[in-house]
Amino acid sequence: PVARPLAGVRVLLTAGPTREPLDPVRFLGNRSSGRMGFALAEALEALGARVTLIAGPTALAAPRVTEQVEVETALEMYEAVMVRAADCHIFVATAAVADYRPETPAATKIKKDAESLTLHLVRNPDILAAVAALSQPPFTVGFAAETDHVEAYARDKLLRKGLDMIAANRVGGDQGGFERPENALTVLWRDGRREFPLMDKTRLARALAQLIAERYQGRHAA
Ligand code: PMT
Repeated sequence: PVARPLAGVRVLLTAGPTREPLDPVRFLGNRSSGRMGFALAEALEALGARVTLIAGPTALAAPRVTEQVEVETALEMYEAVMVRAADCHIFVATAAVADYRPETPAATKIKKDAESLTLHLVRNPDILAAVAALSQPPFTVGFAAETDHVEAYARDKLLRKGLDMIAANRVGGDQGGFERPENALTVLWRDGRREFPLMDKTRLARALAQLIAERYQGRHAA
């Protein structure tokens, strides 16, 4: 028999990249494949949770979760999360959300007439920070993708955004992070930390899901 510590728990989880349109045929994107988030969504569902996955565009097959909602842009992801956030117990932000979007996408294909082209970008809302700032926030788990000062920047995000946990990974190197099948994580909370060495994202997701379940239950015991 499999232990189901998250039976009856509703989880909302974002995964994958976002696409910010420049014109009808082009977008600004990033290297997230969605693998880490999809694996985590399945691992949490396997622990008994009812997982709603809010996914940006990926090439992955639909994971075994309760519900999957597909979005494209950061603003669409923000809307899809905010209409559901009050109704979940745990929110996990695995998505690589674009921090900026082109202010006004061109209505027609941009022509290559000029020698140079300047894009004007505006800030997207921070979905994770908005959920953590709700008056009765769910248990919030963020990710931090950093190329340097990984733990220091992650701890800053944990405290600044008022999160319950943050899972930090190094990106942009030749191991782990975006696109690859493996990843390594340093998970931080206010008074603790745990290291997960480089391993397959499926295995890593199972270990992280267990830790989330433990910390979530600990919150109620406190
Ligand atoms: O998809 P894979 O190829 O498997 O790669 C996995 C991953 C590297 C994308 C994943 O492990 C990861 O690190 N996800 C977070 C990526 C990210 O955008 O990190 P960040 O440090 O820029 O953002 C911090 C946190 O705020 C994240 O939880 C992010 O989801 C959230 N955020 C950021 C901006 C924004 N506008 N809204 C948000 O919710």
